[in-house]
Amino acid sequence: MKQDAKDRVIIFDTTLRDGEQCPGASMGMSEKLQVAQQLARLRVDVIEAGFPIASPGDFEGVRAVAEQVKGPRIAGLARCIEKDILAAAEAVAPAGKRARIHVFLATSAIHRQFKLRKAKQEIVRQAVAGVELARSFVKDVQFSPEDAARTEPEFLAEVCRAVIAAGATTVNIPDTVGYAVPSEFADLISYLFDHVPELADVTVHVHCHNDLGMAVANSLAAVQAGARGIECTINGLGERAGNCSLEEVVMALRTRGDAFGGLWTGIETTELYRASRMVSQLTGMVVQRNKAVVGANAFAHESGIHQDGMLKERTTYEIMKPEDIGLTGTDLVLGKHSGRHAFRERIRAMGFRLTDVELERAFESFIELADKKKSVYDDDLIAIVQEQISEVPKVYLLDYLNVTTGTDTVPTATVRLKKDGSIYQDAACGDGPVDAAFKTIERITEEPGKVLDFSIQSVTKGKDAIGEVSLQVEYEQGTVAGKGSSTDIVEASAKAYLNSLNRYLFSRDQSDTTSAPPPKKRAAATKKRPAARKRK
Ligand code: KIV
Ligand code: ZN
Repeated sequence: MKQDAKDRVIIFDTTLRDGEQCPGASMGMSEKLQVAQQLARLRVDVIEAGFPIASPGDFEGVRAVAEQVKGPRIAGLARCIEKDILAAAEAVAPAGKRARIHVFLATSAIHRQFKLRKAKQEIVRQAVAGVELARSFVKDVQFSPEDAARTEPEFLAEVCRAVIAAGATTVNIPDTVGYAVPSEFADLISYLFDHVPELADVTVHVHCHNDLGMAVANSLAAVQAGARGIECTINGLGERAGNCSLEEVVMALRTRGDAFGGLWTGIETTELYRASRMVSQLTGMVVQRNKAVVGANAFAHESGIHQDGMLKERTTYEIMKPEDIGLTGTDLVLGKHSGRHAFRERIRAMGFRLTDVELERAFESFIELADKKKSVYDDDLIAIVQEQISEVPKVYLLDYLNVTTGTDTVPTATVRLKKDGSIYQDAACGDGPVDAAFKTIERITEEPGKVLDFSIQSVTKGKDAIGEVSLQVEYEQGTVAGKGSSTDIVEASAKAYLNSLNRYLFSRDQSDTTSAPPPKKRAAATKKRPAARKRK
């Protein structure tokens, strides 16, 4: 089908901003950079790199992406507040002509009355002032009327008209709480085009949340009604139930362009699978097996009838080819005799950019793993690389783990942890070997954590496959994800627990240096192990 420029749908990726707002999914700077580089290889049009005023870490993350990532436009989010806009302007500045400031202000009656306590005309004034200030720094300014889907259409039209007159070049219509349904959302977009002719001179985006599972459907309905930008995230990551999933919306347009009047995107779809794996690994957010497009079962055909059909003609049961999303089925690349060069090339081909030191450490872990298991797959390598690029200091390191368990035995774990060159050890019983290991770690570290979610997945095939444990752990000041992998699942669990604890300590220390923490928090942070359990 011929691709007409007017039918091109802009893909605005907000994995690093809205995606990162997902509880427990926060990323460090080097992790954000890896994701941003992968988004550039995916050829997204815009990367929303963060919310610079939110924290120094967010600011530095946006700035680093603006400095180092070439290709897409780089956006920074700001409320219509001077200090936010100044921070966003400074953070995106290194992107030069590709810099965008994205300002937002809620417009719905419910937000006006209860959150902002502002009348309609004050909202219009503040939105206009925000856009004008942003325009004094960059030519590319996006405005979002937050909760647009629940805003009175006449007032929404008035706000759109005012922000365009003030200089907004993109107007984004968010369904902030995932309340819309496709027909109604499409009607709202049509209404706006009918009542605000100025919209023809700017780009209209939509930003849909997935609270009712309709983010992708609503986004597609909106582009059919005339919007030309979709805001989305890898794996649909985001606040609450998440955002519109990038891979789903892109593959829907690619596979069913005929049903969408020839709409298309510039996305390099063969990078989708890699992007999905990378984001899942770096955030600790597991992709459900039956997730559309990138789930482990998306191209698996189980029943005999389906397999028979597939063997005769793939298209009987396959509407997309695995190769289209970058699943080649030939990721078995390395073994224990592979050299450094082959290893480095494979890591590069998978989209990671490591420093020489990181590469060397990753290579050592690879050799260690290749000694334990014959075949090393791409997913094994991602697990190795992730350990290297994470800037979260390994405050606690697993030095030794021994568990005894069985049908007639009380499960008991002995754990030795390393911290600042010292060794701490303890033992505890639990309901099972994993519980015993967690309890022992808690005894040693004295950081109480409640495991809210535990899942284990086999990263690759075979009996010697790496098991990858993903956890969500609730600590005193927040919930943090953790991941650990090993060919031994109890060890993988202990590593995942320590990973979440190290991440928690890292973010707590960061907020300690940027804001005044409650006194209780400081006391907990300086608590030490009783000397009795310490061994040199
Ligand atoms: O959901 C939302 O409304 C947002 C805006 C900041 C665009 O994320
Ligand atoms: Zn959002």
